[in-house]
Amino acid sequence: KVLEENQLIQIHEKTSELYHHILMNTQIGEKALQYLLDRGLTEEVIRTFQIGFAPRDRSLLSKVLEKENFSEELLRKSGLLFQMDNGDWLDRFYQRIMFPITNYQGKIIGFSGRILEDETFDSTDQPKYLNSPETELFNKRFILFNFNQARSEIRKKNEVILFEGFMDVISAWMSGVKNGVASMGTSLTVDQIRALEKVSEDCLISYDGDNAGIEATNRAIDLIASESTMSIQIVSIPDKMDPDDYRKKYGNDSLKELIKNNRDTVFQFKKEYLKRGKNIQVEADKLEYIDELLQEVSNISSIVEADLALTQLAEEFNLSKSTLQNELRTKKQHYK
Ligand code: GTP
Ligand code: MN
Ligand code: MN
Ligand code: MN
Ligand code: MN
Repeated sequence: KVLEENQLIQIHEKTSELYHHILMNTQIGEKALQYLLDRGLTEEVIRTFQIGFAPRDRSLLSKVLEKENFSEELLRKSGLLFQMDNGDWLDRFYQRIMFPITNYQGKIIGFSGRILEDETFDSTDQPKYLNSPETELFNKRFILFNFNQARSEIRKKNEVILFEGFMDVISAWMSGVKNGVASMGTSLTVDQIRALEKVSEDCLISYDGDNAGIEATNRAIDLIASESTMSIQIVSIPDKMDPDDYRKKYGNDSLKELIKNNRDTVFQFKKEYLKRGKNIQVEADKLEYIDELLQEVSNISSIVEADLALTQLAEEFNLSKSTLQNELRTKKQHYK
């Protein structure tokens, strides 16, 4: 069992070296390398993340791995190759920029591949990102991209930053923010939260600024708050951009600055979030909004922060603070 795991890791390490070599040193990798450089990555960061390229030829990895002494069963289990009915092997990943995914010990256990768009290749039916299939070794719900490399910085700062995409983690890394991780394109899981709370008391969420990202932020907040004692702050990215878009547009220093100084509390986030779809000029909407915000205040564990939130609400809606306090007290009893 352990032996098999080690061999699967070996297969992944070999595969990663091959893809990385193709990207950095060969002509079939040239377009992919240019694409990454155009996106603002440096060769240094490409090496740090061992990014690679799986070329269009779907027999390349098969041929290389065939020469090694791995059993067919093991090759199948790796999820990197398929065997067709006629016995020939086919590579799972092709025409993709390859991001190796490591476990918490830093061993490569899977990949995520981003399609490389190319005018000579029809990618219309292809998903933008393709992951390794779920295996015993590769459990998406446990995996956090970059967790192994980020761990020491997370510990040092006592703070972890959650991003939505790999490119956001890498962008932040290039701008000097090295405590970023991302889940595998799925929503955050309880298992991931468990792993994070072992190394950090504070959690920052910096998902994409588009609608999907805002919804995902809201879900992540509620899950972290109910499953852990980590404190939560939110870095919102303006104009529906993601952190990587932001860095590309404004530069490394601006992204770093935004993450450092543009943090909202959960309450501030909820104030914006709950306003969506409501017209506060309409009395019924306004009452519902206040009601929902008072529920949020009742979730705030810091007494000072809760008091500040009430002050804000009182001012915003021209209510007396004691009215809000009374309402909050009634609510709290109601929740029990
Ligand atoms: P770029 O276009 O390369 O900048 O990617 P992105 O990271 O901005 O992608 P996006 O915001 O669309 O998605 C965020 C994350 O969701 C990605 O990093 C992937 O992990 C995941 N994801 C996006 N598209 C797909 C898909 O088609 N299939 C799967 N399985 N995951 C996806
Ligand atoms: Mn997105
Ligand atoms: Mn994105
Ligand atoms: Mn992006
Ligand atoms: Mn409602």
